[in-house]
Amino acid sequence: MYSLNVNGKVQKVDAEPEMPLLWVVREVLGLTGTKFGCGIAQCGACTVHVDGQAIRSCAVPGSAMAGRKITTIEGLSANSSHPVQKAWAQVDVPQCGYCQSGQIMAAASLLKRKPKPSDKDIDDVMTNICRCGTYQRIREAIHVAAGNRKLPTMDADEVSALVQQIKV
Ligand code: FES
Ligand code: FES
Repeated sequence: MYSLNVNGKVQKVDAEPEMPLLWVVREVLGLTGTKFGCGIAQCGACTVHVDGQAIRSCAVPGSAMAGRKITTIEGLSANSSHPVQKAWAQVDVPQCGYCQSGQIMAAASLLKRKPKPSDKDIDDVMTNICRCGTYQRIREAIHVAAGNRKLPTMDADEVSALVQQIKV
């Protein structure tokens, strides 16, 4: 048994210490927005933030994250209002949606460190895999979130409806 601070809430975790953070988050805490893809730190579907930095949660034991601040897609913002989530909805990035919570978490971490990224900055950091090939729209949405490009605005209900598709 150990404690984890997830999305601002300290919670007891009753699991083996070596259980990967991904499975702690999904199976023990019930936060299923974070996805399993490869299990070997290659695809990025399991990306969460630890102390604001994107990490691949399948590759770290949950117990090793005690005392750190973990954020999952569910805790990224209230009402899906993070600029990256809004831009994702505006650009209509997702196709099947499976990889998208990981993509959003990676993009949010990038913009925290580099608020005005170039195409190269984006390509260097956004190494998450998308089977549906949404890479062009991901890049476009990051530029929109950074304020480099403008698109027509959507109302809050339209944004929420699209973001819900991502959290299947
Ligand atoms: S499931 Fe973690 S990187 Fe693929
Ligand atoms: S939207 Fe289908 S895997 Fe990325």
